[in-house]
Amino acid sequence: SIPAVLLVDTGVDDAFAIALAARSPQIDLLGLVASFGNSKLENTLQNTLWLTQLLGVQVPVCKGSAHAFCEPDWVPEEGVVNCHGDRGLGPVVAPDTLAAAPAGEDAVAFLAGILERSEEPVALIPVGPLTDVARFVVARPDLLPKIRVISLMGGAGRGGNVTPFVEANISSDPEAAATVFGCGAPIVMCGLDCTRDCVVTAAMIEELRAESEGELAQVLCDSGAFYLSIDELLHDPLAVACLIDEGVLRTEEHYVDICLTPGEHRGQTVVDWEDRLGRPANVQVGVAADPQRFWQLVSAAVKGTL
Ligand code: BDR
Ligand code: CA
Repeated sequence: SIPAVLLVDTGVDDAFAIALAARSPQIDLLGLVASFGNSKLENTLQNTLWLTQLLGVQVPVCKGSAHAFCEPDWVPEEGVVNCHGDRGLGPVVAPDTLAAAPAGEDAVAFLAGILERSEEPVALIPVGPLTDVARFVVARPDLLPKIRVISLMGGAGRGGNVTPFVEANISSDPEAAATVFGCGAPIVMCGLDCTRDCVVTAAMIEELRAESEGELAQVLCDSGAFYLSIDELLHDPLAVACLIDEGVLRTEEHYVDICLTPGEHRGQTVVDWEDRLGRPANVQVGVAADPQRFWQLVSAAVKGTL
């Protein structure tokens, strides 16, 4: 199995990604890092801890960044409700007190410890802002060879979901994305170009609910039903699924740059589709996903039959 760390901003689709990573026999989930993103850090961390408890797994959860790499003064806007609802999991709210507590380390030390202890290189799977991965590669370039791959959900070679050009995770921290895309580690980009194929309908969720038992499935189906009524795409599990089943994702290797110029292109993942610049490719760009194979993995993870 592949040793991996999942970096989340839980988040409805993050919750499904956590279930898939925790339950797949092909993934050895060594840690989770929760950061700001879909909701403020306090909520995404609590949601992540709660999910590990519902899954019954002993995976350490680290408290990641509360704001973007270059925006130390940023504070979350109160009262902004997106498709993840007020606290991140739609209508479902994590209990205030939980048995599990976050690891007592900073995300850089947490990631370094995991990579140093692992005999094999570790897959990093960021499905939120890239802040903590950026902090890590800047602080510990000596550990780059221990990164097997960075399989990320983020970006869009064509079209965006925050502006017509920019995807949410990259938009949340463009400087971090630029650092990660330029770090030299192998990158698989599961952006909107391929997550657009991961359509999950209300009917699919209800069928899943009927076939599942237990509190975890109930939480995922309740939050999933709310989120998918606004956005029918379950993005994040694809960055996990493509490590489990190579056939789930079709990729093309290209040079990708992050636009940092202020304006509606800030945070755009600019792909040199025709390799006109002649620069070495730094990213395996996901261009299409197989929706059946994707849902087969995700639904089996929720049911506990993987
Ligand atoms: C990404 O943004 C978040 O809303 C989702 O969790 C996903 O990671 C999709 O653009
Ligand atoms: Ca996410």
